[in-house]
Amino acid sequence: MLVPPRDSAMWRKEFLFGSATASFQIEGATHEDGRLPSIWDTFCATPGKVLNGDTGEPACDHYHRWASDLDLLTGLGLDGYRLSLAWPRVMDEKGRRNDKGLDFYKRLLDRLCEKGLQTFVTLYHWDLPQHLEARGGWLNRDIAYRFADYADLVSRELAGKVTAWATLNEPWCSAYLGYGNGHHAPGLSDPRCATQAMHHLLLAHGTALPVLRANDPRARAGIVANIGRGTAATNSPEDRRAAHLFEVQQNAWVLDALFKKQYPADLFELWPGTEPLVLDHDMETIGTPLDFLGINYYTRSTVKSDGAHGFVEAPLADVERTQMGWEVYPDGLRQLLVQFKASYPDLPPIYITENGMASDDTVSHGEVVDEQRIRFIGAHLRALDQAMREGVDVRGYFVWSLMDNFEWSFGYERRFGMVHVDYATQVRTPKHSALALRRFLNERRNCA
Ligand code: FCB
Repeated sequence: MLVPPRDSAMWRKEFLFGSATASFQIEGATHEDGRLPSIWDTFCATPGKVLNGDTGEPACDHYHRWASDLDLLTGLGLDGYRLSLAWPRVMDEKGRRNDKGLDFYKRLLDRLCEKGLQTFVTLYHWDLPQHLEARGGWLNRDIAYRFADYADLVSRELAGKVTAWATLNEPWCSAYLGYGNGHHAPGLSDPRCATQAMHHLLLAHGTALPVLRANDPRARAGIVANIGRGTAATNSPEDRRAAHLFEVQQNAWVLDALFKKQYPADLFELWPGTEPLVLDHDMETIGTPLDFLGINYYTRSTVKSDGAHGFVEAPLADVERTQMGWEVYPDGLRQLLVQFKASYPDLPPIYITENGMASDDTVSHGEVVDEQRIRFIGAHLRALDQAMREGVDVRGYFVWSLMDNFEWSFGYERRFGMVHVDYATQVRTPKHSALALRRFLNERRNCA
């Protein structure tokens, strides 16, 4: 059942329910209206990087279908929508504005505001302009200041239309998958690059925050981090240490920097000799207080010692998994939130900015029966409710995703949407999970 417990705070209208998307994953129109190439266009064009050679075209063709997509969103009765802006759509190589790109987001946000939806806008959900990559991308410290210029432009232009700004989506993925193991654009694999890229990502975040606040003082400003639960395959001290290190790199790498103004020392035991170059005051900048923290949670990993300093995955047999192969482990969300509340006294209010699952959904007689997703969301809402009862301040929950879309290196094969997309015809079909969420939100409205 996709319904939180009847006595949960989630039944109050103040608790926000939304769904999330990201520019590169849904927009398409990668050559239109002055949009410049991004690192994901380049990555997709590199043979072997993305499953089936899929690219950012056509995605959901949302650039042209945005108005009917927003109707879909309001049809579900959601309170909020999380989207991201494409940096290469709104700024040219010289840092000048691109009016056509900006107008697209103005129209979109205006319509969302008219419909009474809260708007959560992420500045960077991985589509870095390729011309900045040519200058070193996140390895070049200068990018933090280019990012602040971008934040300045969009927050001036879109001020008053945004409920909450998030600087970055999942810096761990940008740094580690982009620079540490090469699974994401730009495709480098060197842990030294990953730690330096992370430092510049977080520096960009901290540098942009005051800019957002100055230009749009009524909006909230924060960041979105992915978190992962790591548990030990056995009770041996070595495996427990491995699980600890898993969570250090997955969670503390970002959260310690934000809330303790330091990188966890254990990180550099895991990856010796990878300390990034950090200048005076950088950690102060990175630790600028936040109005909210966005959390994306999907799964846990079981790990064991690799016999040296690190960990290796030791997947459990006989557990429920999704189309991604990820274990369904709702209590991991509660465990981590409770752990963070204890570790970080300055933790701001939390929004779950992504949670959801992929399944191999097909349309039959006009319906998409995605029972596993209904159970998945319901179980995560219950775990989240439990975390709230244990004192964690959670204000909202966004399903990833509104509709099926381009799932990065897995292309279009993995379907995370509550709405099915037929990419050949661009027909949208709400899945049973969407209908279940709509029923719950209607019932909540009627009880209010
Ligand atoms: C997250 C990303 C999001 C989506 C989900 C499945 O890491 O932020 O864009 O791909 O995973």
